[in-house]
Amino acid sequence: MTCYKLALIPGDGIGVDVTDATMEVLTAAAKGVFSLEATTFPWSCAYYLKHGAMMPQDGIETLRGFDAIYLGAVGWPNTVPDSVSLHGLLLPIRKAFTQYANIRPHRLLPGVEGPLRAGAFDILCIRENTEGEYSGAGGRVHQGQDNEVATETAIFTRKGVERILRFAFDQARARRRHLTSVTKSNAQKYSMVFWDEITDLVAQDYPDVTVSHMHIDAMAAKMVMAPQDLDVIVASNLFGDILTDLGAAIQGGLGFAASANICPDCSGPSMFEPVHGSAPDIAGQGLANPIAAIWSGAMMLDHLGERETAARILTAIEGVTAQGIGCRPGSHSTSQITAAILAALEA
Ligand code: IPM
Ligand code: MN
Repeated sequence: MTCYKLALIPGDGIGVDVTDATMEVLTAAAKGVFSLEATTFPWSCAYYLKHGAMMPQDGIETLRGFDAIYLGAVGWPNTVPDSVSLHGLLLPIRKAFTQYANIRPHRLLPGVEGPLRAGAFDILCIRENTEGEYSGAGGRVHQGQDNEVATETAIFTRKGVERILRFAFDQARARRRHLTSVTKSNAQKYSMVFWDEITDLVAQDYPDVTVSHMHIDAMAAKMVMAPQDLDVIVASNLFGDILTDLGAAIQGGLGFAASANICPDCSGPSMFEPVHGSAPDIAGQGLANPIAAIWSGAMMLDHLGERETAARILTAIEGVTAQGIGCRPGSHSTSQITAAILAALEA
């Protein structure tokens, strides 16, 4: 029986609650098919307060030996500024393992009433995850003075843009064969025009996929007004970040927003995490909706090649929400939703 080695980083706040829930479901679903050997790392803001770093110096090297990384949530801004905690854990992991494709599905699960009047929609957002606006190129001079300057330069490379577009085209090809590339090339005449050009170039290799170009502002409106018209969308790091919070909102909230950070062509581990943050206001109260986290866990199994088991988990989640369980904030506890998913898996 195959055994997958998982690195678990529950992190902060509700990250801990939803990681536990996810492992319960994954372990139950794997039973008799494959096994999971999980190693938990306490890397978090609490860890930072003790050790002065979010993870040990050799943290990345430690993670390299695993088949996949599962992350709950990072951030506890009352004690550690977000700019420190995220740059000490989540963002370096994405970059170190070249997890250039951030995959975020946005659709209404059965029984979930989103805030829109729209009916069914099924959007897959592909976000570039290693460069662009998150490249980290910049600096500050004359701090605190009138003449202070801060720069943060977005860096787009041909290699980086081409590979995320190819990945997005591949996803579109496996779905409804429509890709919308989201830029702001009317205003940003270097990087975004470059992105548009590469989109058209790559499109030549995918004559079976219809491509649209859309500006980020128009896309924000489209996702509210007519999300049902969208299939796969691809965007730069920051644009994809913003659009996927919008995507989460229209699918009923962050409790339903799953995500994967993958390197499609690397040997290093990929990382799976719900989109939601650490939610300090409800942390430790057993109130967090674990569906986004469990769905992210299913994406991890799918990525590891355990397609059938991943699909069984998704079906179980859908069965549970169809019964009205976990559909509205506060209607059910973390453990009630988890138990319902476990029961649906058994059935
Ligand atoms: C996300 C988050 C992160 C991001 C933050 C926490 C740095 O918002 O995964 O969407 O911007 O990538
Ligand atoms: Mn985000």
